[in-house]
Amino acid sequence: MGDGKLTTKEWLIGLVEPGFILSMATSYYIDSNLKAVLRGQLLAPILRSQELRDEAFGKFWVAFSSNREDPQPDQTPEPAPPTQTAAGQVQTSTDLIPPILAQASGIVLDVGPGTGTQMPLLKSPAIKAIYGAEPCAGLHAELRKRAAEEGLADKYTILPCSVVQKELEGEMAKYGLVPGGEDGRGVFDTIITVRVLCSVPEFERTTAELYSLLKPGGKMLVVEHVVNPWTTPKGSVLARVMQGIYHAFGWRWVMGDCCLNRDTERVLRRVAEKDGGWESFDMDRWFGATCMPYISGVLVKRK
Ligand SMILES: C[S@@+](CC[C@H](N)C(=O)[O-])C[C@H]1O[C@@H](n2cnc3c(N)ncnc32)[C@H](O)[C@@H]1O
Repeated sequence: MGDGKLTTKEWLIGLVEPGFILSMATSYYIDSNLKAVLRGQLLAPILRSQELRDEAFGKFWVAFSSNREDPQPDQTPEPAPPTQTAAGQVQTSTDLIPPILAQASGIVLDVGPGTGTQMPLLKSPAIKAIYGAEPCAGLHAELRKRAAEEGLADKYTILPCSVVQKELEGEMAKYGLVPGGEDGRGVFDTIITVRVLCSVPEFERTTAELYSLLKPGGKMLVVEHVVNPWTTPKGSVLARVMQGIYHAFGWRWVMGDCCLNRDTERVLRRVAEKDGGWESFDMDRWFGATCMPYISGVLVKRK
């Protein structure tokens, strides 16, 4: 399902697939609420709604991501730059991830790693340490297990928090990571965001905070689903309407605050404007006819 012509079947799957994801996530949400009520906590769905949402999303994501095929490292000896990814080789969003994450090096911030499905792609010796900021406590056991299985237990540290500055700074401090860096010029050589900028609160502000944590010359590695570019020839009005319908049926509520309608490329460009823009901004767009259009790319901060 690249950006070339879709078959009718691929196009239809692209439109209805989020509906299946939504119904699965909703069933986990209902289950968590019912169990709380059956335990005698009759008002839990109201008084502990956020806690139950988190619990249900954690269980859903463990089940969902275990059914999904993990991205595997590129077999090519040298990682192919993302711009060389042949459109014909990209079947699903998972195919976008390996060439992008192959660019990771140094001290890495892995934003919202979930159950760690990206872990097999983070074994490069160029990576010195990885900090995974994952606020959903229900995913930590799986994430820790995955790090151990991939031989990354010594390199991978879970930060049990959101990446909003006030939470992240406290957790970073425990590992001697000063937010401005020792010279006040950033902390991380690489920041990875894979399917997570759709969920962070205060989107623009949080993205700007992440940008400030990047060292000069550092890379932001991005694979994100975004709002359908329906006003452009690559987009689809129907898919944009379907995104709205999924939202109306509770997508955000049961999907860990995920938004289908974020213009992530625009925000990523904007956060670097105060420095005169990114040094380089290589971004590709994919699956424009569907409800899950993607951007993928490598952004380099000016030195
Ligand atoms: C759709 S999942 C993607 C997980 C993983 N990146 C992947 O592609 O398999 C989104 C993840 O972002 C996490 N997340 C949500 N809000 C976050 C925040 N404010 N800071 C960090 N992670 C967050 C969720 O807990 C969840 O694990």
